[in-house]
Amino acid sequence: MSVEKRDKYTGYLTTGHEWNGITELNTRVPRFLLFCLAVTLLFSLGYWYLMPAWPSKEDYSRGQLGVDQRTIVEQQLKLATAEQTLWSIRFLSTPINEASTDSEFQKIVNHSGPALFSDNCAMCHGQQGEGGPGFPRLNDDAWLWGGSAEDILKTLQVGINVGGTDSRVAQMPAFGASELLDAESLGNVSVYIQSLSNRSIGNGSRVEELTALRKGRSVFEKNCAACHGADAGGNTALGAPNLSDSYSIYGADTQSIMQTLSDGRAGYMPAWSDRLSDVQLRILALYVAGLSKQ
Ligand code: HEC
Ligand code: HEC
Repeated sequence: MSVEKRDKYTGYLTTGHEWNGITELNTRVPRFLLFCLAVTLLFSLGYWYLMPAWPSKEDYSRGQLGVDQRTIVEQQLKLATAEQTLWSIRFLSTPINEASTDSEFQKIVNHSGPALFSDNCAMCHGQQGEGGPGFPRLNDDAWLWGGSAEDILKTLQVGINVGGTDSRVAQMPAFGASELLDAESLGNVSVYIQSLSNRSIGNGSRVEELTALRKGRSVFEKNCAACHGADAGGNTALGAPNLSDSYSIYGADTQSIMQTLSDGRAGYMPAWSDRLSDVQLRILALYVAGLSKQ
Protein backbone atom coordinates (compact mmCIF):
# COMPACT_ATOMS: atom_id res chain seq x y z
CA MET A 1 0.00 0.00 0.00
CA SER A 2 1.34 3.45 -0.83
CA VAL A 3 0.77 6.32 1.55
CA GLU A 4 2.20 9.83 1.10
CA LYS A 5 4.33 10.77 4.07
CA ARG A 6 6.66 13.56 4.94
CA ASP A 7 10.33 12.55 4.82
CA LYS A 8 11.82 13.23 8.20
CA TYR A 9 15.33 14.13 6.89
CA THR A 10 14.50 16.50 4.00
CA GLY A 11 11.03 17.68 4.93
CA TYR A 12 9.69 16.80 1.45
CA LEU A 13 6.57 14.77 0.86
CA THR A 14 7.20 11.30 -0.50
CA THR A 15 5.34 9.87 -3.47
CA GLY A 16 4.37 6.93 -1.32
CA HIS A 17 6.48 4.53 -3.40
CA GLU A 18 8.82 2.43 -1.34
CA TRP A 19 11.31 -0.29 -2.21
CA ASN A 20 13.03 -2.16 0.54
CA GLY A 21 12.81 0.83 2.84
CA ILE A 22 13.94 3.33 0.19
CA THR A 23 11.26 5.93 -0.41
CA GLU A 24 10.86 8.31 -3.37
CA LEU A 25 10.76 12.03 -2.60
CA ASN A 26 8.15 14.14 -4.33
CA THR A 27 10.52 16.99 -5.31
CA ARG A 28 9.56 19.66 -7.83
CA VAL A 29 10.92 19.73 -11.39
CA PRO A 30 13.91 22.17 -11.29
CA ARG A 31 13.06 25.63 -12.59
CA PHE A 32 16.06 25.68 -14.83
CA LEU A 33 14.83 22.58 -16.66
CA LEU A 34 11.37 24.10 -17.07
CA PHE A 35 12.99 27.23 -18.42
CA CYS A 36 14.98 25.24 -20.98
CA LEU A 37 11.85 23.37 -22.07
CA ALA A 38 10.02 26.65 -22.55
CA VAL A 39 12.90 28.12 -24.57
CA THR A 40 13.16 25.11 -26.90
CA LEU A 41 9.39 25.10 -27.36
CA LEU A 42 9.43 28.77 -28.31
CA PHE A 43 12.39 28.21 -30.60
CA SER A 44 10.68 25.35 -32.41
CA LEU A 45 7.51 27.42 -32.90
CA GLY A 46 9.58 30.30 -34.26
CA TYR A 47 11.62 28.02 -36.52
CA TRP A 48 8.48 26.39 -37.81
CA TYR A 49 7.03 29.81 -38.61
CA LEU A 50 10.15 31.19 -40.32
CA MET A 51 11.80 28.20 -42.05
CA PRO A 52 10.61 25.44 -44.41
CA ALA A 53 9.30 22.76 -42.04
CA TRP A 54 6.15 20.70 -42.50
CA PRO A 55 5.57 18.36 -45.42
CA SER A 56 2.12 18.50 -46.97
CA LYS A 57 0.65 16.19 -49.57
CA GLU A 58 2.23 17.84 -52.63
CA ASP A 59 4.52 20.47 -51.18
CA TYR A 60 5.88 21.69 -47.84
CA SER A 61 5.45 24.79 -45.73
CA ARG A 62 7.91 27.39 -47.07
CA GLY A 63 8.41 29.50 -43.95
CA GLN A 64 8.34 33.30 -43.78
CA LEU A 65 12.06 33.78 -44.55
CA GLY A 66 11.83 31.96 -47.91
CA VAL A 67 15.10 30.08 -47.31
CA ASP A 68 15.51 27.26 -49.88
CA GLN A 69 18.57 25.01 -49.83
CA ARG A 70 17.99 23.95 -53.41
CA THR A 71 18.21 27.52 -54.75
CA ILE A 72 21.31 28.12 -52.64
CA VAL A 73 23.05 25.03 -54.07
CA GLU A 74 22.02 26.00 -57.60
CA GLN A 75 23.46 29.48 -57.12
CA GLN A 76 26.69 28.09 -55.68
CA LEU A 77 27.04 25.67 -58.61
CA LYS A 78 26.54 28.46 -61.13
CA LEU A 79 29.16 30.53 -59.36
CA ALA A 80 31.65 27.64 -59.27
CA THR A 81 31.17 26.89 -63.00
CA ALA A 82 31.66 30.54 -63.86
CA GLU A 83 34.84 30.66 -61.76
CA GLN A 84 36.14 27.47 -63.36
CA THR A 85 35.48 28.76 -66.88
CA LEU A 86 37.30 31.99 -66.10
CA TRP A 87 40.16 30.06 -64.58
CA SER A 88 40.51 27.59 -67.46
CA ILE A 89 40.42 30.36 -70.07
CA ARG A 90 43.30 32.02 -68.25
CA PHE A 91 45.11 28.69 -67.84
CA LEU A 92 44.79 27.76 -71.53
CA SER A 93 45.91 31.18 -72.73
CA THR A 94 49.00 31.38 -70.50
CA PRO A 95 52.16 29.94 -72.14
CA ILE A 96 52.75 26.70 -70.25
CA ASN A 97 56.29 27.51 -69.13
CA GLU A 98 54.94 30.70 -67.52
CA ALA A 99 52.10 28.76 -65.92
CA SER A 100 54.68 26.69 -64.03
CA THR A 101 55.65 29.72 -61.95
CA ASP A 102 52.08 30.88 -61.24
CA SER A 103 51.10 29.96 -57.69
CA GLU A 104 47.37 29.77 -58.47
CA PHE A 105 47.96 27.24 -61.27
CA GLN A 106 50.48 25.38 -59.14
CA LYS A 107 47.82 24.91 -56.47
CA ILE A 108 45.50 23.32 -59.02
CA VAL A 109 48.31 21.13 -60.36
CA ASN A 110 49.14 19.95 -56.83
CA HIS A 111 45.47 19.23 -56.25
CA SER A 112 44.52 17.43 -59.50
CA GLY A 113 47.89 16.23 -60.85
CA PRO A 114 48.39 13.18 -58.60
CA ALA A 115 44.94 11.71 -59.34
CA LEU A 116 45.22 12.33 -63.11
CA PHE A 117 48.66 10.75 -63.12
CA SER A 118 47.59 7.80 -61.03
CA ASP A 119 44.54 7.13 -63.27
CA ASN A 120 46.28 7.42 -66.65
CA CYS A 121 50.03 7.09 -66.32
CA ALA A 122 50.99 5.14 -63.20
CA MET A 123 50.30 1.72 -64.74
CA CYS A 124 53.30 2.24 -67.01
CA HIS A 125 55.43 4.86 -65.25
CA GLY A 126 54.81 3.85 -61.61
CA GLN A 127 52.88 5.73 -58.88
CA GLN A 128 55.68 8.24 -58.26
CA GLY A 129 56.86 8.26 -61.89
CA GLU A 130 59.72 5.97 -60.86
CA GLY A 131 59.49 3.97 -64.14
CA GLY A 132 60.15 0.28 -64.65
CA PRO A 133 61.71 -2.06 -67.22
CA GLY A 134 60.81 -0.59 -70.63
CA PHE A 135 59.09 2.47 -69.16
CA PRO A 136 61.21 5.54 -68.49
CA ARG A 137 61.53 7.16 -65.09
CA LEU A 138 59.85 10.57 -65.00
CA ASN A 139 60.96 11.78 -61.58
CA ASP A 140 64.61 12.41 -62.49
CA ASP A 141 66.45 14.97 -64.62
CA ALA A 142 67.22 12.66 -67.56
CA TRP A 143 64.79 13.20 -70.42
CA LEU A 144 64.40 11.48 -73.78
CA TRP A 145 62.46 14.38 -75.28
CA GLY A 146 63.19 17.25 -72.89
CA GLY A 147 61.91 17.99 -69.42
CA SER A 148 60.39 21.47 -69.72
CA ALA A 149 56.61 21.60 -69.26
CA GLU A 150 56.39 22.56 -72.94
CA ASP A 151 58.38 19.51 -74.13
CA ILE A 152 56.38 17.21 -71.91
CA LEU A 153 53.07 18.67 -73.11
CA LYS A 154 54.14 17.98 -76.68
CA THR A 155 55.11 14.37 -75.81
CA LEU A 156 51.68 13.87 -74.22
CA GLN A 157 49.81 15.38 -77.15
CA VAL A 158 51.51 13.41 -79.94
CA GLY A 159 52.71 10.22 -78.22
CA ILE A 160 55.82 8.23 -79.08
CA ASN A 161 55.93 5.68 -81.91
CA VAL A 162 52.14 5.72 -82.31
CA GLY A 163 52.29 6.10 -86.11
CA GLY A 164 50.73 9.01 -87.97
CA THR A 165 52.50 12.17 -88.97
CA ASP A 166 52.64 13.99 -85.63
CA SER A 167 53.98 11.24 -83.39
CA ARG A 168 57.44 11.46 -81.93
CA VAL A 169 59.54 8.63 -83.39
CA ALA A 170 62.20 6.87 -81.31
CA GLN A 171 63.96 4.06 -83.07
CA MET A 172 67.01 2.30 -81.75
CA PRO A 173 68.20 0.29 -84.79
CA ALA A 174 68.58 -3.49 -84.56
CA PHE A 175 72.33 -3.56 -85.23
CA GLY A 176 72.66 -7.31 -84.68
CA ALA A 177 69.48 -8.65 -86.26
CA SER A 178 69.91 -6.55 -89.39
CA GLU A 179 73.62 -7.42 -89.56
CA LEU A 180 74.80 -3.82 -89.41
CA LEU A 181 77.47 -4.87 -86.92
CA ASP A 182 79.08 -8.23 -86.17
CA ALA A 183 79.05 -9.91 -82.77
CA GLU A 184 82.57 -8.76 -81.89
CA SER A 185 81.79 -5.08 -82.57
CA LEU A 186 78.59 -5.35 -80.55
CA GLY A 187 80.51 -6.88 -77.64
CA ASN A 188 83.14 -4.14 -77.82
CA VAL A 189 80.67 -1.26 -78.01
CA SER A 190 78.73 -2.76 -75.12
CA VAL A 191 81.92 -2.75 -73.03
CA TYR A 192 82.55 0.86 -74.09
CA ILE A 193 79.11 2.19 -73.11
CA GLN A 194 79.21 0.32 -69.81
CA SER A 195 82.54 1.98 -69.06
CA LEU A 196 80.91 5.40 -69.62
CA SER A 197 78.58 4.95 -66.70
CA ASN A 198 81.36 3.34 -64.65
CA ARG A 199 79.79 -0.05 -64.43
CA SER A 200 82.06 -3.01 -63.86
CA ILE A 201 82.93 -4.43 -67.26
CA GLY A 202 83.47 -8.07 -68.14
CA ASN A 203 86.01 -10.19 -66.31
CA GLY A 204 88.70 -10.33 -68.97
CA SER A 205 92.28 -9.31 -68.41
CA ARG A 206 93.22 -5.62 -68.29
CA VAL A 207 94.87 -5.66 -71.75
CA GLU A 208 91.85 -7.36 -73.37
CA GLU A 209 89.56 -4.90 -71.68
CA LEU A 210 91.53 -1.93 -72.92
CA THR A 211 91.54 -3.31 -76.48
CA ALA A 212 87.77 -3.88 -76.32
CA LEU A 213 87.31 -0.35 -75.00
CA ARG A 214 89.42 1.15 -77.76
CA LYS A 215 87.61 -0.81 -80.48
CA GLY A 216 84.25 -0.18 -78.87
CA ARG A 217 84.88 3.53 -78.81
CA SER A 218 85.59 3.54 -82.50
CA VAL A 219 82.41 1.51 -83.21
CA PHE A 220 80.49 4.04 -81.11
CA GLU A 221 81.89 7.04 -82.93
CA LYS A 222 80.99 5.56 -86.32
CA ASN A 223 77.58 4.05 -85.52
CA CYS A 224 76.06 5.54 -82.41
CA ALA A 225 77.34 9.07 -81.86
CA ALA A 226 75.08 10.48 -84.59
CA CYS A 227 72.05 9.73 -82.42
CA HIS A 228 73.38 9.44 -78.86
CA GLY A 229 75.88 12.29 -79.13
CA ALA A 230 79.70 12.18 -79.25
CA ASP A 231 79.80 12.11 -75.44
CA ALA A 232 76.86 9.64 -75.34
CA GLY A 233 74.90 12.31 -73.48
CA GLY A 234 71.75 11.69 -75.55
CA ASN A 235 69.76 13.81 -77.98
CA THR A 236 66.32 15.14 -77.13
CA ALA A 237 65.57 15.87 -80.79
CA LEU A 238 65.63 12.12 -81.54
CA GLY A 239 64.52 10.71 -78.20
CA ALA A 240 67.94 9.05 -77.91
CA PRO A 241 68.74 8.40 -74.25
CA ASN A 242 71.82 9.47 -72.35
CA LEU A 243 74.06 6.39 -72.17
CA SER A 244 76.65 7.90 -69.85
CA ASP A 245 74.45 8.23 -66.75
CA SER A 246 73.55 5.52 -64.29
CA TYR A 247 69.92 5.23 -65.37
CA SER A 248 68.72 2.89 -68.07
CA ILE A 249 65.25 2.11 -69.42
CA TYR A 250 65.87 -1.40 -70.70
CA GLY A 251 68.55 -2.59 -68.28
CA ALA A 252 72.26 -1.88 -67.97
CA ASP A 253 73.60 -5.42 -67.55
CA THR A 254 75.51 -6.94 -70.47
CA GLN A 255 72.62 -9.22 -71.47
CA SER A 256 70.04 -6.38 -71.66
CA ILE A 257 72.44 -4.14 -73.57
CA MET A 258 73.25 -6.93 -76.03
CA GLN A 259 69.52 -7.45 -76.57
CA THR A 260 69.03 -3.70 -77.19
CA LEU A 261 71.92 -3.73 -79.69
CA SER A 262 70.80 -6.90 -81.39
CA ASP A 263 67.01 -6.38 -81.72
CA GLY A 264 66.69 -2.61 -81.40
CA ARG A 265 64.11 -0.80 -79.26
CA ALA A 266 61.08 1.35 -79.99
CA GLY A 267 59.08 2.15 -76.86
CA TYR A 268 55.39 2.90 -77.33
CA MET A 269 53.74 5.75 -75.47
CA PRO A 270 50.09 6.50 -76.36
CA ALA A 271 49.03 9.96 -77.57
CA TRP A 272 46.65 11.61 -75.08
CA SER A 273 45.11 14.52 -76.95
CA ASP A 274 42.01 12.47 -77.86
CA ARG A 275 41.59 10.99 -74.42
CA LEU A 276 42.19 13.92 -72.10
CA SER A 277 41.10 17.56 -72.30
CA ASP A 278 43.57 20.37 -72.96
CA VAL A 279 43.27 21.48 -69.35
CA GLN A 280 44.04 17.96 -68.11
CA LEU A 281 47.04 17.63 -70.45
CA ARG A 282 48.48 20.90 -69.22
CA ILE A 283 47.94 19.95 -65.60
CA LEU A 284 49.75 16.64 -66.26
CA ALA A 285 52.62 18.32 -68.12
CA LEU A 286 53.18 20.72 -65.20
CA TYR A 287 52.83 17.88 -62.71
CA VAL A 288 55.37 15.65 -64.49
CA ALA A 289 57.78 18.58 -64.97
CA GLY A 290 57.58 19.13 -61.20
CA LEU A 291 58.23 15.48 -60.27
CA SER A 292 61.99 15.79 -60.74
CA LYS A 293 62.09 18.89 -58.50
CA GLN A 294 60.52 17.22 -55.48
C1 HEC B 1 51.16 2.05 -72.12
C2 HEC B 1 52.18 2.54 -71.25
C3 HEC B 1 52.26 4.04 -71.04
C4 HEC B 1 51.31 4.87 -70.51
C5 HEC B 1 49.91 4.52 -70.06
C6 HEC B 1 51.91 6.18 -70.42
N1 HEC B 1 53.19 6.14 -70.90
FE1 HEC B 1 54.47 7.68 -70.99
N2 HEC B 1 55.82 6.51 -71.94
C7 HEC B 1 55.70 5.16 -72.16
C8 HEC B 1 56.89 4.67 -72.83
C9 HEC B 1 57.17 3.23 -73.23
C10 HEC B 1 57.74 5.79 -73.00
C11 HEC B 1 59.11 5.79 -73.63
C12 HEC B 1 59.03 5.71 -75.11
C13 HEC B 1 60.41 5.54 -75.66
O1 HEC B 1 61.08 4.61 -75.22
O2 HEC B 1 60.81 6.35 -76.47
C14 HEC B 1 57.02 6.92 -72.43
C15 HEC B 1 57.53 8.21 -72.40
C16 HEC B 1 56.96 9.26 -71.73
C17 HEC B 1 57.52 10.57 -71.62
C18 HEC B 1 58.83 11.03 -72.23
C19 HEC B 1 59.88 10.92 -71.18
C20 HEC B 1 61.15 11.59 -71.54
O3 HEC B 1 62.15 11.23 -70.92
O4 HEC B 1 61.16 12.50 -72.39
C21 HEC B 1 56.67 11.32 -70.84
C22 HEC B 1 56.85 12.77 -70.40
C23 HEC B 1 55.57 10.48 -70.49
N3 HEC B 1 55.76 9.23 -71.05
C24 HEC B 1 54.51 10.87 -69.71
C25 HEC B 1 53.37 10.12 -69.55
C26 HEC B 1 52.17 10.61 -68.92
C27 HEC B 1 52.00 11.97 -68.26
C28 HEC B 1 51.25 9.62 -69.00
C29 HEC B 1 49.80 9.65 -68.54
C30 HEC B 1 48.95 10.58 -69.23
C31 HEC B 1 51.90 8.49 -69.66
N4 HEC B 1 53.17 8.84 -69.99
C32 HEC B 1 51.27 7.28 -69.90
C33 HEC B 1 54.62 4.38 -71.83
C34 HEC B 1 53.44 4.85 -71.29
C1 HEC C 1 69.00 6.26 -85.29
C2 HEC C 1 69.44 6.73 -84.02
C3 HEC C 1 70.19 5.75 -83.14
C4 HEC C 1 71.38 5.14 -83.39
C5 HEC C 1 72.24 5.22 -84.66
C6 HEC C 1 71.70 4.37 -82.19
N1 HEC C 1 70.72 4.52 -81.26
FE1 HEC C 1 70.67 3.66 -79.48
N2 HEC C 1 68.84 4.39 -79.15
C7 HEC C 1 68.17 5.25 -79.99
C8 HEC C 1 66.87 5.56 -79.46
C9 HEC C 1 65.84 6.48 -80.08
C10 HEC C 1 66.77 4.83 -78.26
C11 HEC C 1 65.56 4.80 -77.29
C12 HEC C 1 64.61 3.76 -77.77
C13 HEC C 1 63.37 3.74 -76.94
O1 HEC C 1 63.47 3.96 -75.75
O2 HEC C 1 62.33 3.51 -77.49
C14 HEC C 1 68.02 4.12 -78.09
C15 HEC C 1 68.31 3.30 -77.02
C16 HEC C 1 69.54 2.74 -76.79
C17 HEC C 1 69.90 1.99 -75.63
C18 HEC C 1 68.96 1.68 -74.44
C19 HEC C 1 69.15 2.74 -73.37
C20 HEC C 1 68.37 2.45 -72.12
O3 HEC C 1 68.15 3.42 -71.38
O4 HEC C 1 68.00 1.31 -71.85
C21 HEC C 1 71.20 1.63 -75.76
C22 HEC C 1 72.02 0.84 -74.77
C23 HEC C 1 71.64 2.15 -77.02
N3 HEC C 1 70.63 2.81 -77.62
C24 HEC C 1 72.92 1.99 -77.50
C25 HEC C 1 73.28 2.30 -78.81
C26 HEC C 1 74.53 1.95 -79.39
C27 HEC C 1 75.65 1.23 -78.69
C28 HEC C 1 74.49 2.38 -80.68
C29 HEC C 1 75.54 2.19 -81.75
C30 HEC C 1 75.91 0.85 -82.03
C31 HEC C 1 73.23 3.03 -80.87
N4 HEC C 1 72.53 2.97 -79.73
C32 HEC C 1 72.86 3.64 -82.06
C33 HEC C 1 68.64 5.77 -81.16
C34 HEC C 1 69.78 5.36 -81.80
